[in-house]
Amino acid sequence: MDAPSKEFALAGSLEELKIKGRLVVHGGHSPILVIYDRGRVFALDNRCPHMGFPLERGSVEDGILTCHWHHARFDLESGCTFDLWADDVPICPVEVRNGDVWVKTTFTHADLAAHWHQRLANGLAHDLGLVIAKAMHGQLAAGVPQAEIVREVALFGAQNRDGWGVGLTILTALANILPVLPEEEAYLALFHGARRVAADCDGEAPRRERAPLGSRPDPAALKRWLRRWTNVRHREAAERTLLTAIAAGFSPAELADALFAAATERAFADTGHSLDFINKAFECLDLVGWQHAAALLPTVVGQMVAARGAEESTAWRQPVDLVALCEESTSELADLFAAGRGSRDWSGRAALAQELLGDDPARIVDALKEAIRAGAAPADLGQSLAYAAALRVARFGNANEHADWETAHHVFTYANAVHQMLTRIGTANIDTHVTAVRGVLHGAMALYLARYLNVPPARIPGDGGDQLDDLPADPETIGAALLDAFDRQRQVDLAARLVARHLTLGHSPQALIATLAHAVLREDAGFHAYQMLEAGVRQFGAWGDTDEGRHILIAVARYLAAHSPTERASLQTADIARRLMRGGELHQEAGSS
Ligand code: FES
Repeated sequence: MDAPSKEFALAGSLEELKIKGRLVVHGGHSPILVIYDRGRVFALDNRCPHMGFPLERGSVEDGILTCHWHHARFDLESGCTFDLWADDVPICPVEVRNGDVWVKTTFTHADLAAHWHQRLANGLAHDLGLVIAKAMHGQLAAGVPQAEIVREVALFGAQNRDGWGVGLTILTALANILPVLPEEEAYLALFHGARRVAADCDGEAPRRERAPLGSRPDPAALKRWLRRWTNVRHREAAERTLLTAIAAGFSPAELADALFAAATERAFADTGHSLDFINKAFECLDLVGWQHAAALLPTVVGQMVAARGAEESTAWRQPVDLVALCEESTSELADLFAAGRGSRDWSGRAALAQELLGDDPARIVDALKEAIRAGAAPADLGQSLAYAAALRVARFGNANEHADWETAHHVFTYANAVHQMLTRIGTANIDTHVTAVRGVLHGAMALYLARYLNVPPARIPGDGGDQLDDLPADPETIGAALLDAFDRQRQVDLAARLVARHLTLGHSPQALIATLAHAVLREDAGFHAYQMLEAGVRQFGAWGDTDEGRHILIAVARYLAAHSPTERASLQTADIARRLMRGGELHQEAGSS
C-alpha cells in the first residue's frame, strides 16, 4: 500500500522491527530511530539532544531509553528527559499499516514560537546552557522578534533574584548592539545574555514585590525623598518612593533625573557600578517597553542605597580632598548654568576632554566650570568625560599590571553611563543640571586618580598621518588579522594598529564594529568586556567616524586584546545547539573529520 502521506517514510516491516528491536530511517530533517518495546512502536530523533550521539546505540529498559554517551535517560513514549541538562528528544508520529511501519519524517510542534518560548523558560529556570541555546535558535527560526526574546529574559531576571545584576547588564548591553550584528552574531548575543541572566538567578531567592504609596506627592517631594532614603540606606522606603513615582506617571526623563540625583549622593558609588546599572535598567526599558517599569526599575534600588561611595576612601581624601572640591564647585553650578544659558553653540567637547586628562584636580574642575559658563549642557560634559576616559584606555601603558585595565575600564563605563543618563534627562531646568553635574565631577575625579595608567602613555596609532603601511589594506584581510591577534595573548598594540589601519583607510566602521563584536561573542568573555564593547559602540555613535571615534574603538580593541583568548566553552555549546537544530549529525561529523 502507498504511504499514508508524502511526509511518512517506510521504516520496514513490523516483523523485521520485532526481530531487530530498532531501525533507523534516513532522508528527512534528521535520522529517525524506530524502537519496538513491549508490543509498542516508538519513533524519536536518533540524535541525542545533548550532544548528538546516535541513540540507536543506547539501551532500553522499562520504557526508558538511555544514551550510551553521557547516560542521559529519556521516557521512550514522550521523549522527555529525566536529566534536564540533556534536553528532551523530539518524537514523531508512527503508524503500522498492513504489517509495515511508517514514520513521519519531520518533527513539528503546533505552535513553534510557543514551544521554544516554554523551552527558554525551562532553560532559564534551571540554568541549562544547551537548552537556552536551542530555544534561542528555535525562537529566532520561528520568527519571534528579538525584542520579545529580550523581554522574556529580562523579566525572568528581574523576578528571580533580589536585584539587578551582572546578567541583566550583559543582556541589555548585548541587546543594545543587536542592530549592528549579523544574524549569526545576534543568536550568540542573545544566548550569552540569557545564559548570564540564568546563571545570576541560579539558586537565588525570587524578588519580593513592594507596592507604591497610596498618595501622589509632587515630583519635587519624591525626588527629595529618594535622595533622603538613599542617604540613610533605607531600601524599602526608596523602593516605595520610586514605585510611587512610576505609578504617578513620571516620564523616563523625570525618573532618570530622580534616580541620578539619588545615586550621586555618593561619589563614584561602587566604583561606578551603581550608576552604570541604573543606566542599563533605563536602556533595558527602552528595549522591552516602559509598561514594565514597575517590574524592572526598582531592582536597581538595593545596590544604590547600599553602595559604598568614594568619599569613604583615602585616595579621594588625601593628599587632595577631592570630595570637598566637588562639593564646593556644586554650589557654584546654578549661577554658571544661568550665565551660559544664552550660548547654545558650544563646541569644545574634544578640547575639554584633553583638559580633563590633566594632573591638577582644581584645574580640571575649573575647566568644567568654564565650559558651563561658555554654554556647555550637562550632556556635553558627559560626552567629553566619556571621551577622556576612553583615551585613558587607549593610552593604557603596557608597564601597568593587568588588573589595572579594570581601573581604566570602570571610569570609562561610568562616564558612558553619565553621558547616557544626562542625555536622557535633557535640559529641562537648572536645578536638574546642578544635581546632574555632580556625576560628571565625580567621574572627572575618578579619571584624575587613574592618571598613573598613562605613565608612560601608549602611542595611539593612526595619529599624525601615520598610515601604518606595513599592515594589510583590504578590510577583509584587516578583519582576519584582527581576529588572529585576538587568538593570541598580549596582542594589544597590534590590535590597536589594525583598528587604526581600517579606519584611516576609510573602511566601514560598521564592519569593524561587527568584527569586534564577533571577537567578544566567541569568547567566554568577562562582564567588563561586554560593557567595554557596548560603551565603545555607544560613544563611537556619538563622535562618529572622526579622530575621536577612532580613539574610542582603539580603546575597545586594546581592552579586548588584553583579555583574549579564553576557553570559548560557551561558543562550543552554542555551536552544538546550532548544528543540532539544523539537523546535523554531530557524532558522525566528528568521526569523519
Ligand atoms: S547523553 Fe547523549 S550525547 Fe551526551
